[in-house]
Amino acid sequence: MAEKIILTGDRPTGRLHIGHYVGSLRRRVELQNSGGFDEIYIMIADAQALTDNFDDPDKVRENIMEVALDYLSAGIDPEKTHILIQSQIPELTELTFYYSDLVTVSRLQRNPTVKTELGMRGFGESIPVGFFTYPISQAADITAFKATTVPAGEDQQPMIEQTREIVRKFNSVYHTETLVEPEILLPQNEACMRLPGTDGREKMSKSLGNGIYLSDPAEEVKKKVMSMFTDPDHLRVEDPGKIEGNTVFTYLDAFARAEHFAEYAPDYTDLEEMKAHYRKGGLGDVKVKKFLNNVLQETLEPIRSRRARFEKDIPYVYEVLKKGTEAAEKKAAGTLEEVKRAMRINYFEDTEWLETQIRKFSGQDGRA
Ligand code: TRP
Repeated sequence: MAEKIILTGDRPTGRLHIGHYVGSLRRRVELQNSGGFDEIYIMIADAQALTDNFDDPDKVRENIMEVALDYLSAGIDPEKTHILIQSQIPELTELTFYYSDLVTVSRLQRNPTVKTELGMRGFGESIPVGFFTYPISQAADITAFKATTVPAGEDQQPMIEQTREIVRKFNSVYHTETLVEPEILLPQNEACMRLPGTDGREKMSKSLGNGIYLSDPAEEVKKKVMSMFTDPDHLRVEDPGKIEGNTVFTYLDAFARAEHFAEYAPDYTDLEEMKAHYRKGGLGDVKVKKFLNNVLQETLEPIRSRRARFEKDIPYVYEVLKKGTEAAEKKAAGTLEEVKRAMRINYFEDTEWLETQIRKFSGQDGRA
């Protein structure tokens, strides 16, 4: 049976927040522990982070360890999953260069993620080539490991689509089956897909100050929850409230499980009952927020306490990164070798090449 391989990653531009957690990290841990995969790679995509942070390399550098700590604390187990640092695997850069022969400028311009991000970053006419072409580099990340499965958020869909196109083009142009078409594994529900900031805005981000981080202390999580955006028209407890666009309920959609109700809100059997009460009137925001706080604390507490342990043993985390990167490089080198063979640039690995050249220049191949 064909191998099942996971590759996914994050840009190290900050600590990971609960949007990362429900969007992908929680799933990666489940998949890792399911035992259903032959190999699992998680990449700290520092080279990709530099494509739009090249002027702030220390930000990227400082967040390598933060993201590694977030991974380990969330339950990524280095016995089962290789954690790797992208920039330390030169094979990925080499693959990117060769794949760029197979991609047109207009195709990159049509990539929806590139389009939105270009708008967000305000490069104007001065778009760095490295940023513009990062989908090609991401295709290298994914195909270098022959990944079949990429657990990631919806925003990554166009990257996976572009990767699949590169794979198809490569395999057909070079008459080979070297590269593997990956599939994206999206989050299970809408709330996990796009967890908004605590202020109700679309994206959780450091600059907006609207994020809850995996490494936030309990008190801080509580403070952030108690000041969250709800239904601005729900003024008195007895008023009917709205669920749509109500951030507290969106978070509950992403985090609350049946056990949480039994333990912290036994008046309700599930979220639907709680929502119905809120809609009807008679359920106050403070009560719902306190429940959400309990749910989040129960989810984050084990992550926090594991982090505290790993923070006391940074040399161990360093070793995890080093070993994970070494294992990953081995795999990527194998793929690069196959790619070079398919593209006919493997002169010194191909003993026949010398022979054919000798024959050709001695006139024995009938050319003379
Ligand atoms: N582009 C991803 C992000 O912004 C990070 C990333 C880099 C990635 N390489 C990847 C994700 C390969 C999945 C697969 O979060």
